[in-house]
Amino acid sequence: MGNMMTTRMVLFLWVLANATGLVSAAEQETLVAQGKYVFRASACESCHTDVENNGAFLAGGRAMETDFGTFYTPNITPDLDTGIGRWTLEDFRQAMMTGTRPDGSPYYPIFPYRWYTGMLPEDIAALWAYLQSIEPIKNNVPPHDLKFPFTFRWLNWIWRLINFKPGKRIFDEQRPAQWNRGAYLVNHLGHCGACHTPKTFGNFIGIEFLGGSRKIPGVLPAPNITPSQKAGIGIWSQQDIVRALKRAIGPDGTPIRGPMAEYVLFGSSYLTDEDLNAMAIYLRSLPIKEQTVETVEEEIQEMLGHGD
Ligand code: HEC
Ligand code: HEC
Repeated sequence: MGNMMTTRMVLFLWVLANATGLVSAAEQETLVAQGKYVFRASACESCHTDVENNGAFLAGGRAMETDFGTFYTPNITPDLDTGIGRWTLEDFRQAMMTGTRPDGSPYYPIFPYRWYTGMLPEDIAALWAYLQSIEPIKNNVPPHDLKFPFTFRWLNWIWRLINFKPGKRIFDEQRPAQWNRGAYLVNHLGHCGACHTPKTFGNFIGIEFLGGSRKIPGVLPAPNITPSQKAGIGIWSQQDIVRALKRAIGPDGTPIRGPMAEYVLFGSSYLTDEDLNAMAIYLRSLPIKEQTVETVEEEIQEMLGHGD
């Protein structure tokens, strides 16, 4: 009798352990899938894989030429020595939301944490689960090759004073859920403003939000994407915007090129139609900016009295 009880008990515990094990494996799988979606909506791959040189997935080393010098993106695979395999979820959360390394020093804003800072905690956790699920790759990335004085990492503290509000999320409870989802995807995951908002010293109020910029890596400027009929995409329909983000083609069928084509390939082409429509709704609701990308940066500089 006693033996019978023990056997039953063991069996019961075994079933219980397995059942809970299965549940958490399924939960883990869902979390990883969710994280993969966040990863794509955030277009992380476009920077962290050195596609041009057949670099391994997320193993870093992609060179990014800027006015400040050349940045090399870090290895973000779970490799213990050359990647982020020793990080905790908390280290990752800190990097994404506060733009600082585990040792507390600030990242350069070319890592678009200014936008990622608004990520929802559950999306950060899912993204972390996904990043831990990929293959670790040993790849030592060269150090950034920057011009003096940008070699000093602490200078980023000054940039941050002007440009960065940790945890800031664009959300308007007066607006419908779809608008807010679009705002979240455009601003925080999609970081469209990293390329499409003018970069001028002192433009801390963001007066030309999504008004276009020539100061992005590469030769192509990022155009004005506000609903201006003349300077922006005001004549594009809802469907035109969705199609551009899905397939990188303009309303007249011409291909969208360069960094935007890459962005679509690694990022927005994977999004659901529901999310793409939310993004288009948000973009079509934005304040109109009339500057064209050829002059927007100079015009702001003059307006702010820093003209040269
Ligand atoms: C525009 C290019 C770009 C995009 C997009 C981008 N990153 Fe980065 N990331 C960088 C660069 C450059 C650095 C290095 C910054 C520095 O050295 O201060 C970096 C740093 C990091 C770090 C810190 C690594 C370390 O070893 O300290 C992590 C983690 C990271 N990125 C993850 C991500 C994730 C996750 C995404 C998508 C949500 C993403 N990045 C999107 C360019 C990018
Ligand atoms: C890495 C920089 C980068 C990011 C991030 C980026 N774009 Fe672009 N985008 C560009 C560039 C460069 C072009 C111009 C491409 C060309 O000339 O063919 C462009 C073109 C476009 C166009 C076509 C505009 C026109 O007048 O033809 C639209 C629409 C657009 N982007 C929307 C977005 C949205 C929405 C996001 C965020 C979800 C985004 N972009 C993120 C760089 C970027």
